Amino acid sequence: MEALMLTTEAATPGAAVVRPTVWTSAEWSAYFRANAGNRLDVPREAGAGVTPEELAEIVDSLRAWQLGETSDGSRLLRTAEAHAARIGDPGFVDAIRLFIAEEQRHGEELGRFLDAAAVPRVRRDLGDSLFRVFRHFLMRMEVWATVVVMIEVHALLYYAAIRRATGSAVLRRICDQILRDEVPHIRFQCERLAIIHRGRGRVLGVLTAASQRVLFVGITMAVWVGHRRALRAGGFTFRRFWRNSWAQMGRAWRAMRPGAYRWPVRAGG
Ligand SMILES: [Fe+2]
Ligand SMILES: [Fe+2]
Repeated sequence: MEALMLTTEAATPGAAVVRPTVWTSAEWSAYFRANAGNRLDVPREAGAGVTPEELAEIVDSLRAWQLGETSDGSRLLRTAEAHAARIGDPGFVDAIRLFIAEEQRHGEELGRFLDAAAVPRVRRDLGDSLFRVFRHFLMRMEVWATVVVMIEVHALLYYAAIRRATGSAVLRRICDQILRDEVPHIRFQCERLAIIHRGRGRVLGVLTAASQRVLFVGITMAVWVGHRRALRAGGFTFRRFWRNSWAQMGRAWRAMRPGAYRWPVRAGG
């Protein structure tokens, strides 16, 4: 299996451009299975190891992320099933199931940290009410993959900030694990979007790109407004957060261009 690359940057002039192949669903499932058995050890014996001062800065935000990571993924799964049936790739459902399981492991690890710090977990699922409003919209795989990749781009910045904001060995190790997992997650979503966008005409391509930028502005603002205290504790000013968000998302955008890949005869199958 070739090394995972998030970026498919332009090569220096004169150098050969090596484009990766889009992984099949079976390759993604194999990756997720292998990764599940390759976890970092979390040094729980030391307890939460977080000071009240540190905790005060990050706790509200961490509870919200913990809940988000814990979502049961049933709607994403239903959307993936419909998508897989449409493109004739039943293996995609398995890959999505394993992806959801990995996200739930993140939620569980964060949940255990909150338990150890004697912080109650949040139970209410805000996503439920949002989903009811945007139901029709969110039944499309393209919309899911787009929203998820944007949130994962912010997760990279967020968990790096949390890691900087605490001296807790447990929490820092959990952040390391999540950061390690999220890079391939972004690649997974970008490949799916490249598959979906493949063959899209120029006008629709431009409209897609424009609507993604609008969505990204909204999500970036929402993440800052909702989590600025923790992000600040991790060293982000708004300006720095904004700049880093767009830089990371720029890499994801390059990785979701169909032209960034070599295509097997039956892509995604
Ligand atoms: Fe995650
Ligand atoms: Fe993720």
